[in-house]
Amino acid sequence: MIIIKDIPKIQELRKLQSKQIWGFVPTMGALHQGHISLIKQAIKENDVCIVSIFVNPAQFNDLSDLAKYPRKTEQDIGILEKEGVDVLFMPEAEDIYPRDFNTIVKNLNLSDQLEGMTRKGHFDGVCTVLTKFFNIIYPQTVYFGQKDVQQLLVVKKLVYDLNYNITVKGCPIFRDSNGLALSSRNEGLTLAQIRSAAVLFQSLLLAKKIVSKGEKKSAIIIAKMEQLINQVPSIKIDYIAITDVVKLEPVQDIAGGVLISLAVYFGSIRLIDNIEIIP
Ligand code: PAJ
Repeated sequence: MIIIKDIPKIQELRKLQSKQIWGFVPTMGALHQGHISLIKQAIKENDVCIVSIFVNPAQFNDLSDLAKYPRKTEQDIGILEKEGVDVLFMPEAEDIYPRDFNTIVKNLNLSDQLEGMTRKGHFDGVCTVLTKFFNIIYPQTVYFGQKDVQQLLVVKKLVYDLNYNITVKGCPIFRDSNGLALSSRNEGLTLAQIRSAAVLFQSLLLAKKIVSKGEKKSAIIIAKMEQLINQVPSIKIDYIAITDVVKLEPVQDIAGGVLISLAVYFGSIRLIDNIEIIP
């Protein structure tokens, strides 16, 4: 695996490999099976698999969250070597955002709901860094997890609106044996908390079951989910939302496919999950 920190070096390598098909998996490191499932797909489908590890300061609205984000570079490098990744791009924040950096890429419609409500400016940071990465790397295909479903939609729109010649692939959520979606943030949970956090997926499955039995009222479904999650007193619900799957606008009465998303705080750890339901 080639490890590159400098932007010009990646650009040079890309020029040398201009005939190769590059598949790109952007990450913030602390890699787990969720990331690895994306990486395996990228390796299978491309000549070259490039992974980035960059804890992007621009997408954190809470500085303490940025400071405590897990960093496991040595372990990550070992995982990527073992998987057979070709290129690891690990830029420094000063190179991505030099002192005179003053451009923001912003999605005007999808950024303020769901995750954007609590994490103001989060998707501006995501869009800006990914725009830079796409311009530096020139990938043909990029891989994103459905776990961050709003991010996936934002990236699809970014690629469409800015005319990138890139295919955006959404990959299934990787869960542990109890159904908890893997996340770098789970590292902050105790084993007991990890077990209790399975209630999140259970609440999504409960919603699916209620819908399959004919319930159409979002308010009723959300109330039942809240009831289940509140059985774990240390979990505080940030939001549970039932929306359409394109604009992420709230749906009162379910008629077609919907997305059910949730975010909770388990102590200071914020967890998200979602499920798409077609009644
Ligand atoms: P990060 O949280 O490291 O996630 C990198 C990619 O892995 C994202 O596409 C995310 O959706 C996916 N992923 C995380 N957990 C997953 C799981 N359990 N199953 C499937 N996929 C999962 O998302 C980011 O980093 C950043 O916002 C980034 C895109 C790198 C921009 O900075």
